[in-house]
Amino acid sequence: MSDRLSTNLKIRRGRPDDPEQYEVFPFEYEAGQSVLDALRWIRSNRDASLAVRYSCINANACKECVMRIDGRTGYACTTPLRPGEMLIEPLPNKRLIRDLVTDTLPPDERLSEV
Ligand code: FES
Repeated sequence: MSDRLSTNLKIRRGRPDDPEQYEVFPFEYEAGQSVLDALRWIRSNRDASLAVRYSCINANACKECVMRIDGRTGYACTTPLRPGEMLIEPLPNKRLIRDLVTDTLPPDERLSEV
């Protein structure tokens, strides 16, 4: 008997000026795996161009992985995957850089504009 579950991650893709577009990635997982586990797997095995920011991986310490998950703000590293479909988007109130990465630094802490 397999303990594998499956979900589809519907991920917002693109840069700020691109038309709104989503890409769906199927992912098989084991209970207890996080949204960040899936995003890292997608980068390694399906699409290395997927932009996602993280650092501590699962300690909920760096706060780098904050994004919108099923319409709510949360940390990808501590949000468990669930079967079915999950909607993964960048923060809506921050300047979008690309895909799931937003500019989270206050303006006076930026070295330069990108
Ligand atoms: S990766 Fe550090 S808080 Fe999520």
